[in-house]
Amino acid sequence: MLSKTTTLLYILLIPGLCSAVASDSVFRPPLQQARCRNVPGSLGFPTNDDFSILNKTVSGRLVKVVPFVEYCTSIGGCTFEQFTSSLYRDGVPGAMNQVNWEQDFSSNPPSLCQPQSPSSCGQGDVPLFGILANTVADIQAGVNFARIHNLRLAIKSSGHDYLGRSTAKNSFLISTHNMQNYTFVDDFVSGGKNLGPAVTVQSGVALSTMYAAAKAQGRFVVGGTASTVAAAGGYVQGAGHSSMSPFLGLAADNCLELNVVVADGQLVRANAVENSDLFWAMRGGGAGSWGVIVSATFRTFPTFNAAVSLMTLIARTVDQMAEVAAVHAKHIFDWDVLHAGQYFYLSTSGLFDTVNFITHGPGSNIPTMIIYTYFPNATVDQANTALQPFRDDLLQITGVNRTENVILTEINEILYASDDIVGSNMVMGSRLIPASAYRDPALVGKVYSQLLKQGGVQNILLNLVAGGKVSENADISNAVHPAWRTAKTHLIIANNWADSASIDQVRGNQTIFGRQQLPILEQISGQAAGAYSNEADSLEANFQTTFFGPNYPKLSAIKAKYDPTDLFIVKAGVGSERWDAYGICRMQ
Ligand SMILES: Cc1cc2nc3c(=O)[nH]c(=O)nc-3n(C[C@H](O)[C@H](O)[C@H](O)COP(=O)(O)OP(=O)(O)OC[C@H]3O[C@@H](n4cnc5c(N)ncnc54)[C@H](O)[C@@H]3O)c2cc1C
Ligand SMILES: *[C@@H]1O[C@H](CO)[C@@H](O)[C@H](O)[C@H]1NC(C)=O
Ligand SMILES: *[C@@H]1O[C@H](CO)[C@@H](O)[C@H](O)[C@H]1NC(C)=O
Ligand SMILES: *[C@@H]1O[C@H](CO)[C@@H](O)[C@H](O)[C@H]1NC(C)=O
Ligand SMILES: *[C@@H]1O[C@H](CO)[C@@H](O)[C@H](O)[C@H]1NC(C)=O
Ligand SMILES: *[C@@H]1O[C@H](CO)[C@@H](O)[C@H](O)[C@H]1NC(C)=O
Repeated sequence: MLSKTTTLLYILLIPGLCSAVASDSVFRPPLQQARCRNVPGSLGFPTNDDFSILNKTVSGRLVKVVPFVEYCTSIGGCTFEQFTSSLYRDGVPGAMNQVNWEQDFSSNPPSLCQPQSPSSCGQGDVPLFGILANTVADIQAGVNFARIHNLRLAIKSSGHDYLGRSTAKNSFLISTHNMQNYTFVDDFVSGGKNLGPAVTVQSGVALSTMYAAAKAQGRFVVGGTASTVAAAGGYVQGAGHSSMSPFLGLAADNCLELNVVVADGQLVRANAVENSDLFWAMRGGGAGSWGVIVSATFRTFPTFNAAVSLMTLIARTVDQMAEVAAVHAKHIFDWDVLHAGQYFYLSTSGLFDTVNFITHGPGSNIPTMIIYTYFPNATVDQANTALQPFRDDLLQITGVNRTENVILTEINEILYASDDIVGSNMVMGSRLIPASAYRDPALVGKVYSQLLKQGGVQNILLNLVAGGKVSENADISNAVHPAWRTAKTHLIIANNWADSASIDQVRGNQTIFGRQQLPILEQISGQAAGAYSNEADSLEANFQTTFFGPNYPKLSAIKAKYDPTDLFIVKAGVGSERWDAYGICRMQ
């Protein structure tokens, strides 16, 4: 509720502030701390000559950026499959995976670019120009250009971001999507120590590429369930969860070194010894706030097989689904001995794609719970034994249909996905649910049914990706929110809308998490719960504590050291409290 007021206030304040500054800046040297970034029409905005010189510096890799639908028009149209393919969208500089982030719903009139009206496309919240970086020098040229010309900078590797942090209105883009190199080594030496087997991946490398490459090496790297998310992009900076996290920890816990172009244009190495404060911050301190990652190095493990159960439970009513969920909550610790990870999704709106977080087909109004459980390094028998008490208890609820399939597979193979299905208007809100909440299974079930009935929720996405090694890793010194170390699950609520939605309906969807869903959720999360900053609400009222907890003051100090002019500002990221909602004008 607070967040809504604050955001509206920011939007009202911008025009006044910016015009005051524009006339002011005539009397100031342009490189002093201006209150606003240069946008087209500002005195300090780069000239065509400036852009031409930059284009030569980056060997012609400067592009004009347009929204996805406009791009499609320019090539004679895109298919529906291309529209919804993350793999395809990732190659289009202006495209975001969640299409709402390309739109500017705040201006009056809004600036939109949607498939229904391709001929009336506005630029929306898509960057104006961008560098498709191939080399470190390209990235450095981009960072220097943005800093010298005081531009709003956006960084993107895949465009997956659920908070829309890899795009910004009137911004200049550095895309690291083409940084596709990776190297496996047996002995990774960092800070004078041999840290053992590792892989260094550049910041365009997708998880699917990483899994395929790791499999060929007989190795495994901790990563998420997605095809095109970039391991060395936003993922690791947020924390990076995986179904293998209860077994092997978070991605941030397994990150050994980062190579980063920081705000002054220098390439720095960040590890336990060199720039160790930056290394600490960039493992959990939030995506997009520190510099441009060139590459990240992760520990690798010998590959192993996993027994994986896919269970579908169909209930007669939402109340019965609440009973099912309570039984599930009662058994949620059963699988800890095997360090299992699990995704379990509750839906009332039809067939749910558990890998891509979207609903296919017409809403069917059938309460469904889909449960994927991953038992690392275990046999099918071990998995069945661990699941049996849960199955037995489910039989006590009359009329629930269970179908289940348990398979054994090499871990890279099961985590590999060829594509992610995206392309909807979606925002989300989330909380890390403490393990202690599951000591009251009946309350857990009740809260889910309240969310589904009164919260306007169609899908509750639960990720059992904490506990086990994530808790044991509490002694690792990184910026991962300490709430991860005591959490059992990461609960996401996704809110979707159609392109035909009115601006009021869009606003309704953008704000319903804070207004209506969070108060219900807080019955189990508690009121001071943390949230995973990569899968969360960009309008989170107290993002400093919710996303970063007690780490915020230290993160702020490290940001001031490496990025004194706030070149790297993202929504709800460290330092963003000093900026308006667009990251264009300073508020303080
Ligand atoms: C289908 C799907 C499945 C997912 N599954 C998981 C999962 O299993 N586990 C999990 O933890 N998360 C998961 N996520 C969330 C994911 O971690 C975030 O969306 C993350 O921000 C993606 O990072 P990216 O760099 O690929 O995306 P982008 O949208 O390109 O960037 C995200 C953020 O990182 C910054 N960034 C990107 N590249 C760089 C760079 N080179 N240097 C510095 N900053 C950069 C951007 O500025 C932005 O702030 C999933 C998301 C999707 C869409
Ligand atoms: C940059 O140069 C390349 C190659 O000369 C050209 O194709 C491209 O259009 C230029 N970019 C811009 C934004 O002008
Ligand atoms: C990239 O490629 C070069 C060789 O072309 C290699 O030396 C380097 O180590 C590779 N790896 C990374 C992560 O850059
Ligand atoms: C469960 O399956 C039975 C028989 O296949 C069917 O009659 C019943 O309607 C199903 N129940 C639900 C809730 O889908
Ligand atoms: C999996 O189990 C085998 C045999 O018990 C063991 O040698 C191996 O180290 C385990 N893998 C991991 C990643 O722990
Ligand atoms: C979200 O948008 C849809 C239209 O696509 C609308 O029916 C729904 O009421 C909106 N939700 C809220 C909370 O406003």
